[in-house]
Amino acid sequence: MLSLVNELRNRHENKVPRHIAIICDGNGRWARKKGLNRTFGHKAGTKPIEKITKACVEMGVEVLTFYAFSTENWNRTEEEVSFLMNLFKDFFIKLRKEADNNVKVRHIGFTDKLSKELLKEIRKTENATMNNSGLILNIALNYGSRIEITDAIKKIVDDVNSDNISLDGINESLVSSYMLTAGLPDVDLIIRTSGEKRISNFLLWQAAKAQLWYTDDCWPDFTCKHLKQAVNSYNRSLIIG
Ligand code: IPE
Ligand code: IPE
Ligand code: MG
Repeated sequence: MLSLVNELRNRHENKVPRHIAIICDGNGRWARKKGLNRTFGHKAGTKPIEKITKACVEMGVEVLTFYAFSTENWNRTEEEVSFLMNLFKDFFIKLRKEADNNVKVRHIGFTDKLSKELLKEIRKTENATMNNSGLILNIALNYGSRIEITDAIKKIVDDVNSDNISLDGINESLVSSYMLTAGLPDVDLIIRTSGEKRISNFLLWQAAKAQLWYTDDCWPDFTCKHLKQAVNSYNRSLIIG
């Protein structure tokens, strides 16, 4: 029995998740606790991204996805939304200038409602890093899983109607190929900060088998230590599972 446990442990020890997805939550509360406007929290929330991306590159993670803005987040005040959109524009410019480690940056989400200026910076950054062969860094911005799945269904029906695919040809891997993450591995580990335990319309199809890890700390305070704890918990789940 003991040898079986050891064997399982060895087999799974330090297994690196191929795809980590992070719900970067709690920026507003982080700022409020300091007596500051919520926008300070959003600004501070861009800081951990660089460190965590670097740590994931070193660990050998293939895909890292940050949830930056959901399709539901348009319901926030105009002031907050416009601050965030400007922040994202600067963020994509910074990513282009500073992205090293062979990182390939990609936007996942919908382009409707995004300004021409922001889209231009997104495309420029995607193009500048498209030939990189290292970690794929997805920024989920104006992303919503239900719309993504709804759109995928429409495209599949369309392709069946025009005889590009047959009804029998529809299987899980075909459905995956109609998602915004087509060609990428499924999510192995979801991390959410700030003590909330919700999925908030994030990668519902892709994270069907993912391990979930939460911390009470808010996103601007997220460090590589948290990341390691989350990866350890993923490894423990493999031993137990
Ligand atoms: C996450 O932090 C960032 C975005 C959703 C853009 P929040 O803005 O949700 O911060 P809290 O949850 O209100 O503290
Ligand atoms: C989820 O956080 C979206 C992002 C982190 C971008 P929210 O703070 O918007 O989620 P809910 O509304 O609390 O579920
Ligand atoms: Mg929140």
